[in-house]
Amino acid sequence: MLKKIEAIIREDKVNDVKEALAEIGIVGLNMFEVRGHGRQGGIKLVGRAGAYQVNMLPKMQINIILSDRNLEDAIETILKSAYTGEPGDGIIFVYPVEEVIRVRTRERGQGAMMYPGDIDSKKFRSAVDINMP
Ligand SMILES: Nc1ncnc2c1ncn2[C@@H]1O[C@H](COP(=O)(O)OP(=O)(O)OP(=O)(O)O)[C@@H](O)[C@H]1O
Ligand SMILES: [Mg+2]
Repeated sequence: MLKKIEAIIREDKVNDVKEALAEIGIVGLNMFEVRGHGRQGGIKLVGRAGAYQVNMLPKMQINIILSDRNLEDAIETILKSAYTGEPGDGIIFVYPVEEVIRVRTRERGQGAMMYPGDIDSKKFRSAVDINMP
């Protein structure tokens, strides 16, 4: 089963999170800037003209499609590396993924989500010999 992790994290934690994920062998991912708010509905800033509400705060969203057998490792790694303990540390959503199709090779599904040197080749001996067509 394939899953998607959508981790919305602080912008200044992106490098820490990327490095921590690379360390456990998460290879394929993408990210982009998102704007939104969580439980606090934004933050209140006090300027010369008085207090005002900034309600769409910038965060980075990291997307990872991976095997569900690697899901908890990836989540734990993000939780550790994105954490400050202050409000605004972010949120992680997990979705089921219907299908993956690599355009060049037409590989599909779980097999298409294995990369040389990745978490599977570290953890599962049977995956050490994956070949890249
Ligand atoms: N229900 C939601 N749907 C979509 N995006 C959300 C949702 N909740 C939060 N987000 C996004 O996730 C980001 C995380 O916000 P934030 O870290 O402030 O979470 P929180 O739930 O308010 O927790 P905390 O109390 O730690 O601040 C938001 O800025 C927004 O981009
Ligand atoms: Mg919040």
